[in-house]
Amino acid sequence: MEAVIAAPDELAWLAAGAIEKLLRSRPDAVLGLATGSSPLPIYDELVRLHVEAGLSFARASAFTLDEYVGLPRKHPQRYLNVITHEITDRVGFAPGAVHGPDGLAADIPAACAAYEDAIMAAGGVDLQILGIGTDGHVGFNEPGSSLASRTRIKTLTEQTRTDNARFFAGDINAVPHHCLTQGLATIMAARHIVLIATGRAKADAVHQLVEGPVSAMWPATILQLHPHVTVLIDNAAASRLQLGDYFRSTYTAKPTWQGL
Ligand code: GLP
Repeated sequence: MEAVIAAPDELAWLAAGAIEKLLRSRPDAVLGLATGSSPLPIYDELVRLHVEAGLSFARASAFTLDEYVGLPRKHPQRYLNVITHEITDRVGFAPGAVHGPDGLAADIPAACAAYEDAIMAAGGVDLQILGIGTDGHVGFNEPGSSLASRTRIKTLTEQTRTDNARFFAGDINAVPHHCLTQGLATIMAARHIVLIATGRAKADAVHQLVEGPVSAMWPATILQLHPHVTVLIDNAAASRLQLGDYFRSTYTAKPTWQGL
């Protein structure tokens, strides 16, 4: 696991640079996209690269991590709409190239299985962008999630519903109780995982992710078992790391051409 501690704009630049490198060498790459506020600076940087440096997403495809159950198709907080608005419409993905689990499916288990099949049929995710919840969830894999889980329905914790109420005009009652999420094993199948976390509220989760024991109580800790994970954190999110100085020195010593 590589941890990079830097200013938020540098983190966004690094993550977008990794996506750029991937797409320049393989224009039909498969991206894993995450919602939440943490990845937004990465998406803004990708838009800049698309507009100013001709980075093309026309042959790429993308899979989102998760979706609320029951939000109407046009609801602005439906995650497929959020991803469309924040990134995929802005960089010109081809119609039909962006996929998300169907939170309105009549047969939820069948929809989850179909999502797993679609990721497999696309050849798997080349690069997965991830955020992390304050309780250590990734996607919507809440504490207690099976470390071997696949796409399925989950019940959101009160903590997550409270955290996410800000996207629903501060009204926790408007936040759905259920979601569909890629499982931890689904996420672990991505070839490169880039997790971004900024701000003091993430410091405990980041500490557990990087330095804690692997445990379903902090689902993100499963990433310690992945061969290619990059954790991008600012000073506030790194404030509880025992290895903070080590990570700072390794990044300072790293040749700039190396990328992530
Ligand atoms: C939601 C999403 C996660 C995201 C998390 C953190 O719960 N399902 O994928 O990582 O929020 O969001 P933020 O980056 O806004 O703190």
